[in-house]
Amino acid sequence: MKRIIKSLPFVKKTYQSFQESKYERRFAGECYGCFRGVFNTFEQAIQSAPKTKTIGYDNNDLAQEYQEMLESENWEQSQHLINSYDYPVLFWLNSIFTTNLVNHIFDLGGNVGIHFYAYKKHLNCQEITWTICDLSEIIKVGKKIAEKRQQKDLFFTTSFAEANNKNILLASGSVQYVNHFSQQIEKLLVKPVHILVNRLPIYDGKQFVTLQNGGKVFYPQYVFNRSDFIESFNEIGYELIDIWQDRLGSCMIPFYPENSVPFYHGMYFKLRE
Ligand SMILES: C[S@@+](CC[C@H](N)C(=O)[O-])C[C@H]1O[C@@H](n2cnc3c(N)ncnc32)[C@H](O)[C@@H]1O
Repeated sequence: MKRIIKSLPFVKKTYQSFQESKYERRFAGECYGCFRGVFNTFEQAIQSAPKTKTIGYDNNDLAQEYQEMLESENWEQSQHLINSYDYPVLFWLNSIFTTNLVNHIFDLGGNVGIHFYAYKKHLNCQEITWTICDLSEIIKVGKKIAEKRQQKDLFFTTSFAEANNKNILLASGSVQYVNHFSQQIEKLLVKPVHILVNRLPIYDGKQFVTLQNGGKVFYPQYVFNRSDFIESFNEIGYELIDIWQDRLGSCMIPFYPENSVPFYHGMYFKLRE
């Protein structure tokens, strides 16, 4: 009996490493949306990734997948066209529009145009220019779709510097993939007055990086400390106007319960006058 009890930590450790290697195999395969590990940097997360998929969103296969989704016959009618986390963004966009005649939206991580196409019928402003900033493989496909639809008010770029002089910055589900977000905003000569950050993994612990299985690829993402994230905007002249929960997003990391985030957040920051 004593021997069994004595060996318990060993049994526990062996069981744990068995579970971990089982999860490793699962994560390396078809475990879409699963997270793995806690790291300090993107580089560490990338180095630790299984060799079964490539790394990052800048991928033509992914872009094709987004195109198929957008062009599928029932996408415009789909009940997922507008999700619950989109409503606070629509609410704040429409409030901003009532005080501005012409609006320039800079949509970081706007993908092939999903927010542009999904939001436009809910926005009460005629005069909008919409610029999507995404990675080159994604915007190549986004441009093709826009050309086919003869979209005159939709533009694409890979350069964050083009956020200069746009009054609204929208970043939905993208800030976690970007390094030094607030520093990039600070460098702009004319900063956006309104910043809507949505679908963001924040929590009360220390900032870290984790790795996600994105189906065709793996990608590293940040999980930010809530107050440091808000403070980084205070420091560059912004005031937090609103914060909301996104109950559809979560970052649950097996074996790291203290780093797991059960739901995401969205925020609206406004430049102080
Ligand atoms: C999870 S998707 C979010 C898409 C969409 N905004 C939404 O909320 O559903 C993340 C998007 O961010 C883009 N992205 C990732 N890293 C980026 C970067 N460094 N600069 C610009 N876009 C990036 C990806 O290509 C992808 O379109």
